[in-house]
Order: sequence, then C-alpha cells, then structure tokens
Amino acid sequence: MGSEQDVAQGTQENRPGLLTIWQPAQDNEPDMFKKLRWKILTPWLDSPAAELFCSLEKVFSLSGTPVAKDKKSVVFKISAGTNTFYVKRYHRTKGKHVWLRFSRMNKEAENQLLFKQLKIPAAEIVAYGEEHIFNKIARGALITLAVENAVDLATTAQENPRLMQNRRWARQVIKQVARIARTLHDYRFCHNDLKWRNILVTQDEENPQVYLIDCPVGQRWPAFLLPRRIIKDLACLDKVAKYQLSRTQRLFFFKEYTQRKRLIAADKTMIREILLFFQGRE
Ligand SMILES: Nc1ncnc2c1ncn2[C@@H]1O[C@H](COP(=O)(O)OP(=O)(O)O)[C@@H](O)[C@H]1O
Ligand SMILES: [Mg+2]
Repeated sequence: MGSEQDVAQGTQENRPGLLTIWQPAQDNEPDMFKKLRWKILTPWLDSPAAELFCSLEKVFSLSGTPVAKDKKSVVFKISAGTNTFYVKRYHRTKGKHVWLRFSRMNKEAENQLLFKQLKIPAAEIVAYGEEHIFNKIARGALITLAVENAVDLATTAQENPRLMQNRRWARQVIKQVARIARTLHDYRFCHNDLKWRNILVTQDEENPQVYLIDCPVGQRWPAFLLPRRIIKDLACLDKVAKYQLSRTQRLFFFKEYTQRKRLIAADKTMIREILLFFQGRE
C-alpha cells in the first residue's frame, strides 16, 4: 500500500457498506497521472480475504490455475480460510489504443450488486478496483465468492450431459433463467452478454439454483432502444439452447419468459427476430 492513504467511507462515490481506498502511485509513474482505487466490501473486512485481497498490487502478485484466459484477462481460483474465491484480473495490452476505455470492473461489480437488489441470485462481490493512468484504466481486478457446487451452464452441458438431459432438472433451470431474464428486462436492463458461460448452476440433481456472473457491459436502456437489446439477450441464450434443448424446452422457456400459456401474434414476431438475430454472424 502507498505511504499516504485516504480511507473514505460512504462518500458519493461509494455505496454504503463499502470501504474505499485511494492509493497514490507506487512506482516511478508520476503521482498526478496514476491513481488506484480498491474496494473491499464490508462483510469481508474482518476475514482472511481482507488480508489476501488487501490491494490491487497484492491481487496482481497472486497466482492460481487459470479457469479462463484471453489476451487481456485471466480468471483463477484461490482459497482463503474456509472460502474459495474467483479472481478476475484485467491488464493493459500493448499499444495505447487497446487500453480499457471504460470502468469495466466498476460496472461489473455495480451490476452484480444491482442483481442482488433485484433479488436475482448473483455471485457475491468481495473486492474490486482499478488503476488509472492518464485517466485510462491500466489494470483492474474483481474478486467474487465461488458459488458452491456451481458450474456454468455451457460447461455443464459439455461435461455433465446426463444432468442436462434430465428433463426435471432442465425444467427448473429453464424456469429460473426465464424469470431472471424477465426481471432484468422489466427493469429495462439488458445483460448484453447473456451466454451460457455466464450463468452458473448448482449441480444439485433435485434442486438446482441459477446465478448470474460476468456482466460488465449490461445497462438500462431507454424504451425506444430496449426491444432490440432484449432480442439480443434472448438470442444470446438461444445460441447454445438450440443445440442443447428440444424445441419444446425452448418454447417452454419463451412462455415462462412472457408468462403466457399461449403465444400471441407479437410473441411469434419476437421469436422470429430471436432466431434471425445471429444468423450469418456465428
Ligand atoms: N463466483 C464464481 N463461482 C463459480 N464459478 C465462477 C465464479 N466466477 C467465475 N466462475 C467461473 O469462471 C469462468 C470465467 O469467469 P467470468 O467471470 O465469466 O470471466 P470471463 O470474462 O473470462 O468470461 C465462468 O464461466 C465460471 O465457470
Ligand atoms: Mg464469462
């Protein structure tokens, strides 16, 4: 941590219950160009996690086996005390133009917190923050508590096809995903990356529970832009659903989503739009 530290609580920037730490620059970058913001959520302040994730610097010194990786981010699992956490780290890639241009970690954390407010099950945020250089985000991290016994839907379909083919299990999962999509869309919020890999499901044969993760580009939309965004979310879900689920199951999803037992003319138009959305783009 830096030599000076300003610990602000409950400011405009923060929502209540967050501890924010602004840290000055720590290496040879001039202070005026570099700023660190790191938040640990209050419930975790007195836990071993607070020590493990005490700063962005510390989070970048941790290592673990990657569960997901691309050019600009890595996700790995790590344990502290009795809990397991998922650490997602973003870093600047070569060339100024590929710096992250918006506050991805902030948005992802805010959206996860919003899901909780909307009573949508979502992975619990433990800590997050970013380092800004010249007002651009150079690197960032987000820590979530691992949802116990949960695997994302895409991996479940690949690695546990027996569960996926269990009609009773699938029906419960479809119902929950439809309710989540409905709740988001009623709030005029679209996820914008609602793919099976971003939906966790507990591997419980009798009573599966669905959770949302990974929503850095979700937002609310004005009414005139909303329909197209809604179609995108539903088309995103259907990308894998069309290979993994039967037509009856997909129709069941749609009816659960609209909360209608019979399709009306507008529903049929919407289904056509969903089916056409990614056509020629996959
Ligand atoms: N809190 C969590 N609990 C359980 N699994 C998780 C959690 N967070 C991430 N994962 C697993 O890690 C994968 C990658 O995480 P994600 O946040 O979606 O990163 P990416 O931006 O790389 O897609 C997910 O698809 C899921 O399998
Ligand atoms: Mg993801």
